[in-house]
Amino acid sequence: MEAVVIGGPASNGIDNEIAKKLNLKREKLEHKIFPDGESYIRYPIELEGKQVIIVQSLYPPQDKHLVELLLALDAAKDLGAAKVIAVVPYLAYSRQDRRFRGGEAVSIKTVLKALRSAGADALITVDVHKEESLNYFEGSSINVLPLRELVAYFEDKLSEPLVIAPDKGAVRRAREAANILNCPYDYLEKSRNRITGEVSLSLKGVDVRNRDVLIVDDIISTGGTMALASRRLRELGARRVFAACTHALLRRGALKKLVNAGVHEVVATNTVPSEISKVSVASAIAEALRKLISV
Ligand code: R5P
Repeated sequence: MEAVVIGGPASNGIDNEIAKKLNLKREKLEHKIFPDGESYIRYPIELEGKQVIIVQSLYPPQDKHLVELLLALDAAKDLGAAKVIAVVPYLAYSRQDRRFRGGEAVSIKTVLKALRSAGADALITVDVHKEESLNYFEGSSINVLPLRELVAYFEDKLSEPLVIAPDKGAVRRAREAANILNCPYDYLEKSRNRITGEVSLSLKGVDVRNRDVLIVDDIISTGGTMALASRRLRELGARRVFAACTHALLRRGALKKLVNAGVHEVVATNTVPSEISKVSVASAIAEALRKLISV
């Protein structure tokens, strides 16, 4: 069955790379914004009977990119696509994955339900904040972890490496990166002094003194988490601190914050466009797509 890759307005070039790797035809969605701010999309080709792979990341402005994706999914179904696969490199709203306070929306659930009901038969995303969230999507889904690619970027720069997750939630990423580098890993444990209220970060299992430390996380938004981790690791004696993340949202002077906190170099993947988005996730996505498309 014929398969075609469709690049949405927020595909950041990943659509083109995937199509080349899979040797598939690639088309761009026609797209414009009406004077009142509403989005318009149009498929420039026939979709009848085809497997349609729509690539659209949900980086800022998230809501606009989400609506464009919903329009594209629904239209693809209407136009007779046999199978619709949504490739969403950055899945926005993933951090609101439960009700932290009564009355809140579980945003990722709403987003995944919307993608499914708009017409996504399958979903591929990259390093979603918590993999379990994908259970809210009632179709097949694949979470691609781009650690091999991120680690490859740093591999030759690190001497006596050590991988650290900035919190317990990110420890799986640290473990996988450490396995690739064949080095130890740990996470920073947060504790609060009950009397002073002061927060401190500590490491239980490893000694960072005189080692190059690679901090890995899914998202850098304001840079606060990475900056805090870097400062602490430097205090603990790390020689140099490198930072790797998948999604570089970089809000409110995040990069400056990291430099001030002693981060030697920071790199991200291209799920979100930014000046540090140097590592492509296209090969990893193409590999995942091979499991979902029938040729
Ligand atoms: C939190 O659990 C995430 O994994 C990231 O650590 C967090 O979202 C980063 O945000 P910021 O850069 O604003 O500290």
